[in-house]
Amino acid sequence: MTAPNKQLPAIEGGVPVRKESLPFYRPSVDETDVELVTKTLRSGWLTLGPVTFDLERELARYLGAAHVIAVNSCSAAMFLALKALGVGPGDEVVTSAMTFTSTVTAIIHAGATPVLADIENETFGVAPDELVKRTTPKTRVFMPVHFGGQACRIDEVLDIAGGRGIGVVEDAAHSFGASFDGQKVGTFGDITAFSFYATKNLTTGEGGCLSTAYEELADKLRLLSYHGMSHGSWSRYADRGSWYYEVDVPGYKCNMSDMLSALGLSQLRRVDQLTAGRRDVAQWFAARLEDSPYFELSRVRSGNDHTWHLFVVRLRLDRLTIDRDQFIRALAAENIGCSVHFIPIYRHPYFRAYLDDSESYPVCEDYFSRCVSLPIFPSMQESDVDDVVSAMNRIAAYYSVS
Ligand SMILES: Cc1ncc(COP(=O)(O)O)c(C=O)c1O
Repeated sequence: MTAPNKQLPAIEGGVPVRKESLPFYRPSVDETDVELVTKTLRSGWLTLGPVTFDLERELARYLGAAHVIAVNSCSAAMFLALKALGVGPGDEVVTSAMTFTSTVTAIIHAGATPVLADIENETFGVAPDELVKRTTPKTRVFMPVHFGGQACRIDEVLDIAGGRGIGVVEDAAHSFGASFDGQKVGTFGDITAFSFYATKNLTTGEGGCLSTAYEELADKLRLLSYHGMSHGSWSRYADRGSWYYEVDVPGYKCNMSDMLSALGLSQLRRVDQLTAGRRDVAQWFAARLEDSPYFELSRVRSGNDHTWHLFVVRLRLDRLTIDRDQFIRALAAENIGCSVHFIPIYRHPYFRAYLDDSESYPVCEDYFSRCVSLPIFPSMQESDVDDVVSAMNRIAAYYSVS
C-alpha cells in the first residue's frame, strides 16, 4: 500500500492538514464572565434592571457617546432607530448591498423602501458616489455598514447626508471599538446600532445597543424599546417603584436583560484585550499571505483603527481552476471552517423581485465571487494560522492554472 500523498488536498483523498477541526469562530468566555452572570442569576432580578443600566453607562463611557440604550439585538436596534427618526411609508433608505439581511428588513419593517448601493473596494462599505447616485427627493436616511471591523467612509457619508438633510443610521454590528481618525464608531451619525451576537468582538450571546448624541432621540429609543411605557418594569417593581405606568406610544419589546448585561459588562472590561487577540491573528495571516499569488488581502483605510471582526481574503480566480465555493469545500475537507460575508442582498429570492439586479453592483459581484472569511477569534494561536495558510496554499497550488 502506498503512503498517502501529503500534498494532495484532503478533498482529493489526501490527509487533512488538521486532525481536529478549527472552527470559524470560538467564543471567549472566562471565569469572570461566569461569575458575573451567576451573581446576577442569584440576585433575584433577571430582566431589565440595574446591571443593564450599568452596562449602558459603561458602554457610553467606552464609546464616548452621550447616550446608550441596550437592546436584544442589532436587528431590533436598527428598526428602532428608523422608527425613532420617524421613517415610514413613502420614505426611501439607502443602504449597502453587501450586508446581512436584517439591515434591509429593518427598513422594510419600518414601512420604508430600501434602496441598495454598491460598495467600494477599500473598506467594503457603501461607495459614497453610489449614495449620491441613489438619492432621490424621497431619501430620508442613509444606513451605511461598518464592515468587518473597520469604519466605512463615514466622513464622506456624513458630508453627503448633511448637505441634503438626510439622517444617518449606522449599522456597526461588526465594528464595536473601531475608530476613524481617533473617533470611535458610534459617535458619528444620528444613531448607531451595534450587535453583541455570539461571534462579535463583545458578546452577550444575543444582544446589541444603540448610541446617540441626542437626548430626544435617546428618550424615544428607550420608550420604543420597552412597550412605549412611561417607566419600565425596573422602576415599577423595584423597592421604590410603583405599580403605575402609562403607555405613551405603541412600543416594542426589544429590551436587554440583566442576565445578558452581566456578560456584556464582563466582556466590556476586557474588550480591548479580546480585540488585541484578533489583531495578532490578522497580523499573522497578513505576514504569511501578503506575497501570495493566489490571495488578495483586505486593506485598511488610512485613519481607521481596525478591530478585525472578520479577516476576508479574495481569491485570484484567474490563477485558479476552482471557484470560491469549491475552495471553501476544499478547506472544509482540511478541517478548517470559514464563511462568506455576505451574499449580496439583491441575490436573495425575496429581494431579487424588486431591487436592482446584479449588473448594477459590479464591486459587490466581484467581491462576492472571490471572498472567503477566514477563521479569526481571540484565542486562536499562531499554529492555527499556520494550519489555515498551509491548507490554503496546498489547495491553491493543486488547483493552480499553470
Ligand atoms: C452587518 C450586520 N448587521 C446586522 C446584523 C444583525 O445583528 P443581530 O444578530 O445582533 O441582530 C448582523 C449580524 O451578524 C450583521 O452582520
